[in-house]
Amino acid sequence: MAILRVAQMGHPVLRQVARPVDADELASPNFQRFLDDMLETMGEYDGAGLAAPQVHESVRVVVLILDPDEGPEFLINPVIRPVSDLRTRSAEGCLSVAGMRGVVDRAAHVRVDAYDRDGKPKAYVLKGFPAVVVQHECDHLDGVLYVDRVDKTTLAFNDQWDKFGPLDKLVEGYEEPDDIDDEIVVVKPEVR
Ligand code: NI
Repeated sequence: MAILRVAQMGHPVLRQVARPVDADELASPNFQRFLDDMLETMGEYDGAGLAAPQVHESVRVVVLILDPDEGPEFLINPVIRPVSDLRTRSAEGCLSVAGMRGVVDRAAHVRVDAYDRDGKPKAYVLKGFPAVVVQHECDHLDGVLYVDRVDKTTLAFNDQWDKFGPLDKLVEGYEEPDDIDDEIVVVKPEVR
């Protein structure tokens, strides 16, 4: 296994639309080794998730922690859609935008269909934090960074965030969103 280099904002690979992975490529020893490297890289940098373009591979693969008790898992060729109008605002950071944080408004209730690293289809309906993480990571597959969606008045360097926060002190008029309980429901995958 190897720890991969993480691309920083400004590198073109972070702005490309990544290509899907087919079944044969996914099953190949080289690709499985790449997945192990992604896992090791995410662990090294303590991320909640990592998308392949962040390690300079423009393929539709993310690894993320939805349920801390289950540990990291892969989503290959993921497809996301909101399943209700529920929204949330939460602080996000990104290994590819080192040293910063900001508040992003996102759907708080989404369905994701994907394949696992063995090529088996799987699907979840997610609420709260897991819904936010999966949208942040899947955005990377379309060349989108959280700073494209951030509430600009909340964007801060980590040092200043820690020093002057919490956000209601850092940003005039900032209001905490209502709490949404995290939820992870395994559902029957759609055949694609
Ligand atoms: Ni990110």
